[in-house]
Amino acid sequence: MKKVISILMAVVMVFAACMLFSSCTKTEDEEENSTNEAASQESTAMTAKEGVLVMATNAAFPPYEYKEGDSFAGIDVEIATKIAEKLGLTLEIQDVEFGSIIGGVQSGKFDMGVAGMTVNEERLQSVNFTDSYATGVQVVIVNEGSAIASLDDLKADGSMKYGVQQDTTGDIYSSYSVDEGGFGEENVIRYKTGADAVQALKSGKVDAVIIDNEPAKSFVAANEGLKILDTEYAVEDYAICIAKENTALLDAVNEALAELKADGTLQQIINKYIPASLEDSSAA
Ligand code: ARG
Repeated sequence: MKKVISILMAVVMVFAACMLFSSCTKTEDEEENSTNEAASQESTAMTAKEGVLVMATNAAFPPYEYKEGDSFAGIDVEIATKIAEKLGLTLEIQDVEFGSIIGGVQSGKFDMGVAGMTVNEERLQSVNFTDSYATGVQVVIVNEGSAIASLDDLKADGSMKYGVQQDTTGDIYSSYSVDEGGFGEENVIRYKTGADAVQALKSGKVDAVIIDNEPAKSFVAANEGLKILDTEYAVEDYAICIAKENTALLDAVNEALAELKADGTLQQIINKYIPASLEDSSAA
């Protein structure tokens, strides 16, 4: 499995660069608009709408973001609320598909993406990321009665299907060909949310779900009969993404984050949602 991970890491750049390129192609008009917008805003305004900080997320990713009735909750929601407060802005949350966050941030539709988003090379070609505020680990969830006991039992010979949230790093890693260390795209089933992938696992449509560790723990706690394989798959840093040209907002958010780290607020928020995480989050 070590080999698998290192190969995965080695090819992640090329593969995701292609994915981003194909999914982020804009029409010429859109291109022109966003360039004009960026030029007219230049360093004076940090956000598209005056006084408002628009955060894009995908709120089916507990404990980072989820819906509680009509409102949003989670680590990212609370961090973003504190950042907005520090910047003197009103936070507005847009719940969108995970795969449309980066494009929307690039085009100026959203000021920032806060979605347990992993920093990687290909995303860095499209947007800037703030300093990291948390660490994630890709893990594998299976049904309790499953014959899959460790990563070595995961087969890429067509006998097993893997469920992922579309456009996440779990999707990217799993979809590599077997030679590249993945399970082969033909064996991966993509769902709109991690929660949908977990439902597919429960109903036997997939044999395993590849997803970030804390959401995995939340899903396992909320659903009977699931377990997480006891192995680390790939370790990642989470950060907030911001449009490349909006360095004013990047600097302001980084400053706010640094203050939240220094005065213990960030750790308090993380501990509230991940009580036993004192040592996990030390890298944040
Ligand atoms: N960390 C993974 C990634 O960046 C998954 C994030 C999914 N986040 C969400 N809010 N659904 O690809």
